Amino acid sequence: MRQEATALPLRVDGLRFAAGGVEILRGLDFALVAGAPTVIMGPNGAGKSVLLRLLHGLLEPTGGTLHWSLPRDEARRRQAMVFQRPVMLRRSVLANALYPLRLAGAPRAEQAARDALERVGLAALADRPARKLSGGEQQRLALARAWALRPEILFLDEPTAALDPAATRQVEEIIGAIAASGTKIVMTTHHLGQARRIAGEAMLLLDGRLNAQAPAASFFDAPPTPEAAAFLRGDLLW
Ligand SMILES: Nc1ncnc2c1ncn2[C@@H]1O[C@H](COP(=O)(O)OP(=O)(O)O)[C@@H](O)[C@H]1O
Ligand SMILES: [Mg+2]
Repeated sequence: MRQEATALPLRVDGLRFAAGGVEILRGLDFALVAGAPTVIMGPNGAGKSVLLRLLHGLLEPTGGTLHWSLPRDEARRRQAMVFQRPVMLRRSVLANALYPLRLAGAPRAEQAARDALERVGLAALADRPARKLSGGEQQRLALARAWALRPEILFLDEPTAALDPAATRQVEEIIGAIAASGTKIVMTTHHLGQARRIAGEAMLLLDGRLNAQAPAASFFDAPPTPEAAAFLRGDLLW
């Protein structure tokens, strides 16, 4: 829940992750600040999902450090994450939205859950079994469930990769509304058009290294590196 203190900026120093003898992230240095969404782009296998999992604390770095502006546990409580394919409890839509609020001991949890469903256009489906929803509806529910907690930071890993264009647009609108409500969005995508629509800041990850980080306007209009230019032209394999 958002309070006066703030977990951002996050500073990342020499961040490394290796598994099975393979270096997946090879020493990243960057900072994430409050404000417009940061979109992390890069070809398949570049390490985007591993990076988000490290930032959210689902994986432990094998080298380097993450410096949150609050103690780690406190920072963790201010973050949420939504995956490409959401995991739904075998219960109603409302019960799914309520679950994290109850866990967090939030006051007036049921009202907060209903409000969150309203904001993503799912209020009328509150009593349906969540697993019977379409893919797009499930992703909107996953976003409502995360948004209900009013996180300071919301990590989104390819949130529309499994969706059709209509559902993608709805999800993008919700992401915009979450950002406008004051939550910092940190999102991966390999969809360039989506990155242009959402990003306030863009990062390019190539082969486990941070190739570029720039405000979206300059990243897209005057790519900061030859690789970013090639990526935007479509010359780098996805
Ligand atoms: N837990 C893991 N153990 C071993 N290898 C992994 C693990 N997670 C991801 N990888 C590998 O790390 C590389 C980067 O993966 P990932 O972060 O999923 O890439 P991206 O999301 O950019 O497509 C891939 O080659 C993947 O197979
Ligand atoms: Mg990925």
